[in-house]
Amino acid sequence: MKHIYKQGADTSAPTLLLLHGTGGTETDLLPLANLIAPSYSILSVRGNVLENGMPRFFRRLAEGVFDEEDLVFRTKELHDFLEEAAQRYGFNRNNMIAVGYSNGANIAGSLLFHYQNALKGAILHHPMVPRRGIPLPDLAGTPVFISAGTNDPICPSQETTELEALLTDAGANVHVHWESFGHQLTRSEVEAAKTWLQKNK
Ligand code: MLT
Repeated sequence: MKHIYKQGADTSAPTLLLLHGTGGTETDLLPLANLIAPSYSILSVRGNVLENGMPRFFRRLAEGVFDEEDLVFRTKELHDFLEEAAQRYGFNRNNMIAVGYSNGANIAGSLLFHYQNALKGAILHHPMVPRRGIPLPDLAGTPVFISAGTNDPICPSQETTELEALLTDAGANVHVHWESFGHQLTRSEVEAAKTWLQKNK
């Protein structure tokens, strides 16, 4: 997968897996990583699917309606890529925290839904429920930060609450940060993620 890897000054810290939103690229979240954890290594990946020229991590049939078969396929593809990248760059595969926004948060959520130990933790900005009706792996103790907007037209607040419940039922330690905005990524939610990361790295 197209990506950027940058080794950080603190090689014992987690590696941040950066996953952009629809229409983004692997450079989008670099400033965000620099804000929340400037000394960490980063692996920033570009989604392999194109929707009218816009990169995404998996196909959708309509706004908010995911192509489940592709979601499962692309989640495995990313999961395999993380293994390859860890070997190639020599970072600890078991010490990786995802930071995703929107479509990137959804593929990060899908990693958690489909694979045990895929991520040590996750920061999900404006995620949706990636899939319904499947048993989740044991996520005991996995720290997950979710930020959501009470007026998010793409991700209604019930969906955030549903995701929180599904992850919590699987054992994850979920913190939800609410803002009274829409789908946009705000400076204050990034600050909240930074504070959370300090306590949950
Ligand atoms: C998705 O398709 O993953 C969500 O609708 C969010 C987005 O617009 O990327």
